Amino acid sequence: MKAAIWCRHKDDCIIGIGPNIPWHISSDFKRFKRVTKGKSIVAGQTTYESFPNRTLPNRKIYVMTFDADYQVSDKQNHFVVTNKSQLDDILNEELYISGGASIYRLFMTDIETAPDVIVDCCYQGEIDASLTGQPVDVKSCVEFMEKNYLPYTSSITEDNVDVCLWVKNNTQINETQITDIWKRIV
Ligand SMILES: NC(=O)c1ccc[n+]([C@@H]2O[C@H](COP(=O)([O-])OP(=O)(O)OC[C@H]3O[C@@H](n4cnc5c(N)ncnc54)[C@H](OP(=O)(O)O)[C@@H]3O)[C@@H](O)[C@H]2O)c1
Repeated sequence: MKAAIWCRHKDDCIIGIGPNIPWHISSDFKRFKRVTKGKSIVAGQTTYESFPNRTLPNRKIYVMTFDADYQVSDKQNHFVVTNKSQLDDILNEELYISGGASIYRLFMTDIETAPDVIVDCCYQGEIDASLTGQPVDVKSCVEFMEKNYLPYTSSITEDNVDVCLWVKNNTQINETQITDIWKRIV
């Protein structure tokens, strides 16, 4: 099953400024860790480089880059992916699309490759104004989500972050998997 997880800023859908996430919400980071622990994630090279020591323990990481010779930090658990079709073979794993913007857009503006489920975390607070760099947003993906998905749960709020699970229209839902994801969210 393919899923996605993000934390976007309310209204403007910003997820980053330059290479940084412009807020520090410990509970949100912990939720990301809980949801993806023991699972597989796919991340763009920029996002991968932003992980401490280019790793996140206890998960497989598929790193998207156009550079087939890109060197990952852990050859046992991290894998270079140069084309999203290479991920078609691993959909028996629970795979989380984890950013950044180019990777969300790559999968989440195309109904064929869009994830079955989105863990939509929406931050209502202030953006760190001290950061310089280009704002990075996922507006097109949020519009796509609102058109092609339905909220599966009512949202919960923690530390100014509203969290809701969305499921793609006409998807055959595996209730056990969805319930398992929700249990790791709350
Ligand atoms: N708030 C959140 O939930 C969240 C989550 C993750 C990231 N972020 C933020 O998102 C921002 C980074 O996003 P970004 O879009 O700049 O970078 P990114 O998506 O993390 O990585 C971009 C890189 O991915 C590779 N790539 C992109 N499209 C590809 C394709 N079709 N095939 C193969 N490789 C491809 C390229 O690597 P090469 O250049 O090596 O070819 C590209 O430079 C940062 O601000 C980060 O903090 C936010």
